[in-house]
Amino acid sequence: MPTPVIGIHDLSIATTHYVLDHATLAHHHGVPVDKYHYGIGQEAMSVPAADEDIVTLAATAAAPILQRHGTDNLRTLLLATESSVDQSKASGLYLHPLLGLPNTCRVLELKQACYSATAALQLALGLITRDPAERVLVIAADIARYDLDTPAEATQGAAAAAMLITADPALAALGPITGIHSTDVNDFWRPNYRTTAVVDGKLSITAYLDAVTHAYTDYRNRGGLPLEEFAAFCYHQPFTKMAYKAHRHLLAAHDLPTETTDLDRALAATTHYNRVIGNSYTASLYLALASLLDHTDDLTGQPIAMISYGSGSVAELFTATPAPGYQTQLRTTTDIINQRKPIDYHHYRTLHTTSEPTRDGHLVLPRETASPYRLAAITNHNRIYETTGHPPTA
Ligand code: HMG
Repeated sequence: MPTPVIGIHDLSIATTHYVLDHATLAHHHGVPVDKYHYGIGQEAMSVPAADEDIVTLAATAAAPILQRHGTDNLRTLLLATESSVDQSKASGLYLHPLLGLPNTCRVLELKQACYSATAALQLALGLITRDPAERVLVIAADIARYDLDTPAEATQGAAAAAMLITADPALAALGPITGIHSTDVNDFWRPNYRTTAVVDGKLSITAYLDAVTHAYTDYRNRGGLPLEEFAAFCYHQPFTKMAYKAHRHLLAAHDLPTETTDLDRALAATTHYNRVIGNSYTASLYLALASLLDHTDDLTGQPIAMISYGSGSVAELFTATPAPGYQTQLRTTTDIINQRKPIDYHHYRTLHTTSEPTRDGHLVLPRETASPYRLAAITNHNRIYETTGHPPTA
């Protein structure tokens, strides 16, 4: 039996209730705003309300997909995150009542820094190769949080990307060849007792550049395309300038031109969403893909390089090729971004420093988010979610 074409059938993005602009942050940090706008390529960051977490972001992203496609043959939910709400229970199980998922759907959480959504896609490909009738829901959801008043604070953000993975996908086929590079490096990590990441910023940049170069070498060794044959390059974007650094590095390593126009042609369309949302860890690469598809006229049949990096570290390079008619499947993300409410600096800091109860306390959260999905309370260690909408139905 021939291997079916498998890939992304639908893609949906969600982000937070609040947004903090980098001009405000620059003012309070006492740095020129150009450092943020041009130095790291960031204009604003999404900030979660107190009643938002990765479960509510994941639900908000996935609900439109289930409304459009139903849950028939949806036999696996893979939720990729490094901002999980529990050390044991998969966060995806909280989505069951919120989204009306079938009991015949296996639920699993994956972790490897920003990389794990890419691993989830690879697992989905394997499951669907075994049974092409099955569909897999992959959700990447993260809240990037660093210590206040550190250089990394400007690279925070939060978002979720939900993807329905099927045979004969309407949006983009995923290529069978991938290039991988894994190595043990302490560039960024978050011990269990911390709510913010520990990061060696400069090391993280060189570790990212090295890993991408090695992953591309592995991809080529396994029969992948030369760089010149890609129509665009979606990189993991902890800040959008990182995509430019990485692409310049990759091109230079292969004696290809690295003029600004070459870089812009390959990258500019991929950066619109991450530039105003900030780092969304696992979701960032898929926000780059959504941005590219929403901001380019026609990429039908043209291979796009997808370059995933997660600190610690694992990098993987694979190919996504937009399917004929994919433009009719696009749903612009601009509204979701524009609907966010600007937050003042004092409120942002208060939210950042407020933590959830660590003992068997009782916390009731007033409604703050405009999303239909929210965290209403934490009581006796239970997270109580609520929705104002009905679970999506087929
Ligand atoms: P920093 O030390 O504040 O910044 O931290 P800098 O001094 O290096 O400046 C940044 C850039 O702004 C430089 O440009 C400056 O020249 C420029 P570059 O030399 O890099 O091209 N600049 C200006 N430009 C215009 N006008 C000005 C001006 N001033 C300076 N006036 C750093 C920056 C990224 C290190 C920090 O924000 C950080 O630690 N961020 C977190 C770590 C991170 O994002 N690492 C990225 C790679 S690792 C990764 O992607 C994985 C990750 O997503 C986690 C995961 O996998 O889960 C993080």
